[in-house]
Amino acid sequence: MDNKFGLFIHWGIYSLTGIQEQAFARADWDREKYEALAEQFNPANYHPEEWVIMAKNAGMEYICFTTKHHDGYCMWDTKYTNYKVKRDLLRELADACHKHEVKLSLYYSNPDWHHPHAYNPHSTHQWKAIRNPQGDFALYKQYVKDQITELLTGYGPIYTLFWDVPPGITDPTLNDYARSLQPGILINNRGFDQGDFSTPERELAANRDPYPQMTEACNSLDPQSWGYRTEPDYYSTRFLLSSIAKTMAKGGSFLLNVGPDPDGVIPPESRDRLEIIGNWYNRTEGSLANHTPDLFDYGRVTGGEYIAVRKGNKSYFHFYDGLNATAILLERWPGLPKSVRLLNSGESLPFGIGCQVGYINGTTGRMEQEFLWIRKIPTDHYAAEPITIEIIW
Ligand code: GLC
Repeated sequence: MDNKFGLFIHWGIYSLTGIQEQAFARADWDREKYEALAEQFNPANYHPEEWVIMAKNAGMEYICFTTKHHDGYCMWDTKYTNYKVKRDLLRELADACHKHEVKLSLYYSNPDWHHPHAYNPHSTHQWKAIRNPQGDFALYKQYVKDQITELLTGYGPIYTLFWDVPPGITDPTLNDYARSLQPGILINNRGFDQGDFSTPERELAANRDPYPQMTEACNSLDPQSWGYRTEPDYYSTRFLLSSIAKTMAKGGSFLLNVGPDPDGVIPPESRDRLEIIGNWYNRTEGSLANHTPDLFDYGRVTGGEYIAVRKGNKSYFHFYDGLNATAILLERWPGLPKSVRLLNSGESLPFGIGCQVGYINGTTGRMEQEFLWIRKIPTDHYAAEPITIEIIW
């Protein structure tokens, strides 16, 4: 997968609880009370084009939308259940995405707390699944297949399919079928087989190596919830920026989640954060997406933890936790750079070969060490964000 930055959207009748996307189970609502929310769900301020423009302005290339979460409520006009939206909310989002050339991905939950045959003892998240003595999981699987058919044939090109909660049952025919409906679709590893890409969730890789397989990490602006909360908490943007930079420099995609309110409005505090994040992301000039690892051995590099990636004759050094000095020293380099830039500001940086006294130079035997010296970085000015240095060789 060409790695990309994307927007995750968790939205459904659970937004009306103001608690969390799994409030039905986790706050233990009774079924009648929870399912009655479907009647109240009339988002009067749903303007998906604004969502799409917001995502695009933040540099995001795709949107992954919850078509059906664990509660089983469907966000599109499916013909296989009445537990669904009164107007086709997915259609409106899909149209806006296609209009603005933002790719569309679909989230679909395997656990289903409404369907009478969905109880699955091999899987987790079954808290509110209906324990029906006559339950027949094959009927539920057919329902999933029918719904996937609707989703993958009715809404134009679909970029990725995000199954949620592995069913613990292997059946590659489902993903094969999805691929037959949408050639080129990428499928995550939470479905009926291992799919195409892994999905680390709310976790940051400890090492700096390129991901060994196609990866899409995800996190939410709110450390406790994916769905809308009336009393939200927020990760610091500093933390999110570092996570995005590190994940994407390793070659992964990053899905950043928001939870719109029941009316269809993305809370202003979330929008503000996306704006800050997007402002930084756009200044990385696409260097975090669609790159290859930089395999040159630079030896000892000062300044902080970094990941170097490559695009043609350009290397990008992503210091995802920021820099600790106004200069960077590289022990080895492939040849003198043509130019060096700080992408945060766009400014050119002075560079040259320097000598650091106190190190024995292996060639001359003198108490000095040559290094490539990049200087005059306004580090303190960009203390709140990752720092990206572009070197054109
Ligand atoms: C977890 C949560 C689920 C959420 C998903 C997103 O599995 O339990 O509610 O939709 O993460 O990746």
